[in-house]
Amino acid sequence: MNTPERAIRIPDIQAKKARGEKITMLTAYDAAFARLLDRSGVDMLLVGDTLGMVVLGYENTLSVTMDDTVRHTQAVHRGASRALIVADLPFLSYHTSVPDAVRNAGRLLQAGASAVKLEGGHVMAATVERLVSIGIPVVGHLGLQPQSMHQLGGFRRQATRPEEQERLLADANLLQEAGAFAIVLECIPDEVAERVTAQLKIPTIGIGSGPHCDGQVLVSYDLLGLSGGVIPPFVKQYASLAETVVDAAQAFSNEVRSGEFPARKARKK
Ligand code: KIV
Repeated sequence: MNTPERAIRIPDIQAKKARGEKITMLTAYDAAFARLLDRSGVDMLLVGDTLGMVVLGYENTLSVTMDDTVRHTQAVHRGASRALIVADLPFLSYHTSVPDAVRNAGRLLQAGASAVKLEGGHVMAATVERLVSIGIPVVGHLGLQPQSMHQLGGFRRQATRPEEQERLLADANLLQEAGAFAIVLECIPDEVAERVTAQLKIPTIGIGSGPHCDGQVLVSYDLLGLSGGVIPPFVKQYASLAETVVDAAQAFSNEVRSGEFPARKARKK
C-alpha cells in the first residue's frame, strides 16, 4: 500500500496526469466506509448521487436532495482524513440559476467537500466558470448523465454516433476552458474516451469508458459485492461482502435462538 500521510489536494490530482500516473476514485456515503476506503489509499472519495440508489433505496438519482448530500458529505468528511472529497450537486440544485448553483455548491464545501461534481457540457460552462471564479473547484461529468435518464431513454451507452462524439469532445474542451479540474466520462466508447483524454490537459476519470482514461471511478458497493440488483457489466467485483453480511447475521440469529449467544458465565461456587 502506498499511502501518503498528508491530505490529497487538487494540484496532486492534476500532477498525476502530467506524470502519467493513474488516478483512483471510489464512492463513499458514510463515515465508516470513508474511514476504510481512505485507509486503502484511494485518491478521491465521491459522495455521488448514487447515494439515492445505493443507500436510500430509490430507483434513480433524481430524488436525492441537497439536505441528503450535505448530511452524507459531513459523514464522509468525518471518516476520511487523506482522500480528496468530491460531492455531487444533486438534480435541480444547480440547473435553476447560477446563484442557486453557487449557494448549493458552497453548502457542500461547508459540509467538508473539497470540490463539487455536476453533469452537463456547454449548458453548464457558465455555471462552472462562476463556481471556479469564486474558489469552488469543479469536476465535470459527460457521457451518460444519470440525472437526464428520462431524456436519454434510460441508462444507456452514449456518444456512439460520430456527431455525438464530436459534441462530447467540444463539451469536454468547454468544461476545461471554464476551469473544471477533472471530468468524469461515463459509459462512452473506449476510443472516444481515449480521444478526450489525449485532447485535455485536465484528467479524465472513466466509468464504463475503457482503459485509456487518466483514472477510474466505481461505485464502492458494486466493487465490494454489496449492491442488490443489477450490476453494470463494466464493474469488476473485487469482493463478495453481501454473502459475508448475510452469513454473519444468520449465525447471530441462530446462536441467539439456540441459546449459544450470549454465553452463560460460569457460576462461582
Ligand atoms: O453518483 C455517482 O456515484 C457517480 C459515479 C457513478 C461517477 O456519479
